[in-house]
Amino acid sequence: MYVAQPIEWTDKGVVMLDQRRLPGEEVSYTYTDYREVAKAIREMVIRGAPAIGVAAAMGAALGVQHSSASSIEALRTEFTQICDTLAKTRPTAVDLFWALERMKRRFEELAQSGADLASIRKAMIAEAKTVHAEKVATDEAIGRFGAQFMPKEGQVMTQCNAGALATAGIGTALGVIRVAFEQGHKLHVLVPETRPYLQGARLTAWELYRGGIPLTLITDNMVGHFLKSGKVGAIVTGADRIAANGDTANKIGTYQIAVLAKENSVPFYIAAPISTFDLSIPDGEHIPIEERPAEEVTHIQGIRIAPDVPAAHPAFDVTPNRYIRAIFAERGVATAPYIDSLRKLAAAPAVSAAR
Ligand code: MRU
Repeated sequence: MYVAQPIEWTDKGVVMLDQRRLPGEEVSYTYTDYREVAKAIREMVIRGAPAIGVAAAMGAALGVQHSSASSIEALRTEFTQICDTLAKTRPTAVDLFWALERMKRRFEELAQSGADLASIRKAMIAEAKTVHAEKVATDEAIGRFGAQFMPKEGQVMTQCNAGALATAGIGTALGVIRVAFEQGHKLHVLVPETRPYLQGARLTAWELYRGGIPLTLITDNMVGHFLKSGKVGAIVTGADRIAANGDTANKIGTYQIAVLAKENSVPFYIAAPISTFDLSIPDGEHIPIEERPAEEVTHIQGIRIAPDVPAAHPAFDVTPNRYIRAIFAERGVATAPYIDSLRKLAAAPAVSAAR
């Protein structure tokens, strides 16, 4: 089945598919400067929490690879600057900070082991590639855990794009749907378009169509209508950050879907890797919500659709844990009380990357 490849490390640099131009055009760019990678994350060439993490790891490796530092000390100073630049791109997806922390840890391990500059450069590239390989493995594990909760047949709903484009693996929420579909579940996916950035209409619809999974695209304001019909068996979405109590930030609009799901007795699930857990914050009140430009609301792909008035664009909302039936991760399935189950999953043995 077709799996999109949003990012790849190559000998020429980091190659990214420009998601802003999908589905109309499939255009890729090759980046050799970490500052360009930071810009690509900020401007949504690449998006989706785990894919942002992979991009940050590769950006950090790129920075080290192209640094002209001639001592470990100079490289360390430059590396701090590289990580700071990559960190200041998108604030909500914790995978970004997770990936940078991991690259920093690896750098210090190497620096303290007495490795020379050439070996550090090589090993940092290897670490970024491992982060990518792990995303592939974790998505597959999440998919297997989550597929059991999908109906044997009928409609399921998602939100935004939590597919291959968003993770650099097979996807989290779409990974669950994909694995269930491959196991023989006869699923039909309802895809809300996900205004204002249209990740549902542009990206999820494209991925499902390319993968041969039946879908119906709906506008966001049709969600309640379809959930009330009694013909939706489950909802599964991704996450950008999951607090210790299970409160979950995901694409704007997810909260209202979860509330409507509860009202209509439709199970609402989250699928996300453990790198998306932020157990350092007690609840969703502590999750920083990215504010994006108002033009993304007043315009669609450069075309003005509203008068020149103020517009708001919080890019994410927080779904309180009470609306979430279960969270699928690569080490198992968490259910309420999340304060215990998420900690247990985070402490369980890691899924290693298939190399
Ligand atoms: O603004 P985006 O497109 O980066 O937002 C993406 C989402 O909200 C996804 O649902 C989330 O990152 C999970 S991706 C597996």
